[in-house]
Amino acid sequence: MRRIYLDHGATTPSDPGVIAEMLTYLRESFGNPSSRHTFGREARDAVEKARVRVARGLGADPREIVFTSGGSEANYLALRGVACANRDRGRHLVVSRIEHHSVLDTGRDLEREGFEVSWIPVDGSGLVNPGDVAAALRPATILVSVMLANNEVGTIQPVREIAAHARAAGALVHTDAVQGFGKMPVDVRELGVDLLSISAHKIYGPKGAGAMYLREGTNWRPLNRGGGQERGRRPGTENVAGIVGLGMAVELAAGELEAEAARVGALRERLVEQVLARLPGARLTGHREQRVPHNAHFLIAGAAGFELLAGLDAEGVAVSAASACAAGSGASSHVLQAMGVPDELALGAVRVTLGRGNTTEEVDRFVEVLERLVGEIRSRNAGPKSAQG
Ligand SMILES: Cc1ncc(COP(=O)(O)O)c(C=O)c1O
Repeated sequence: MRRIYLDHGATTPSDPGVIAEMLTYLRESFGNPSSRHTFGREARDAVEKARVRVARGLGADPREIVFTSGGSEANYLALRGVACANRDRGRHLVVSRIEHHSVLDTGRDLEREGFEVSWIPVDGSGLVNPGDVAAALRPATILVSVMLANNEVGTIQPVREIAAHARAAGALVHTDAVQGFGKMPVDVRELGVDLLSISAHKIYGPKGAGAMYLREGTNWRPLNRGGGQERGRRPGTENVAGIVGLGMAVELAAGELEAEAARVGALRERLVEQVLARLPGARLTGHREQRVPHNAHFLIAGAAGFELLAGLDAEGVAVSAASACAAGSGASSHVLQAMGVPDELALGAVRVTLGRGNTTEEVDRFVEVLERLVGEIRSRNAGPKSAQG
């Protein structure tokens, strides 16, 4: 069976160029970057080359890049590191309701530890109103954290406006750019953020590698202790191959950004048009224009997302019923809840996230299988009801 992967928001296949470069640092140049011999120096040089690549991809200085184990850790370090360093100045944070769990849960932990968090709502399209952030700011606000693009519905947030409000009030700004980076231009200075998170495996790099941008001079404290790596900001022997893979992935993403965004965006439009035309009772979730080009998220009345996911999977088509991170928890998505989607509708959520390898034929095949499955599920569900009635 020909398999079709439409779940690039969950993860992406590693680019062959990324893998080739990583292999060198697993096989031949396997040294510890802290070692003072040639093996070590080769590994150190590779880590620093990757740092330059990542910095260039973000419009940052290489000294402002801290390598992490991925987006979750970068988010955790950003929130908690700012909270620890600034607790004597203030104990108030402003965080949107639709953040990734690594931000939400860290915020909730901080609340239990005596910090206060203002949880900012979103509108029906998943958009944060910068005015709501401005209204929540206080003299005690130390950090504002609003994601660049949402992982479920793809809505792009007005981070620049939000950051301007926050900075004017003396607060630091973090954005989780895991889903936006590589899909849209990202420049830390233009956004006006102090901290930003990215992850390699969403941009055709390896899993378990990511980075936190930490603006030079930001009042932040490291959380891990025990070594001087990453200038003491994230101790531990570096994941050299992962870091090399991240650097390469960032460089490749930058080179193809514009062309790929246009190609994938056109495919997404085709997919959305077909689904809406052929499936009565389906609606597109999230913002119509202000969304990352690869994301299409639907609510399909009368069919549960998990049933559709299983049916599509049986036909070799991979999509997501919620974001991969929330999937399996059984709970209705906090993002859809925040957008005001009723639980019974949220049940029919299907997220399609396109990527490099996808073609028109694959999109058409997806729509064809989806249409058939929805028809089958709806008639199955209608059966017993009409018998009762
Ligand atoms: C918006 C967002 N932030 C953070 C993460 C976590 O990144 P990682 O898997 O690298 O820990 C994800 C992953 O799904 C995400 O979508």
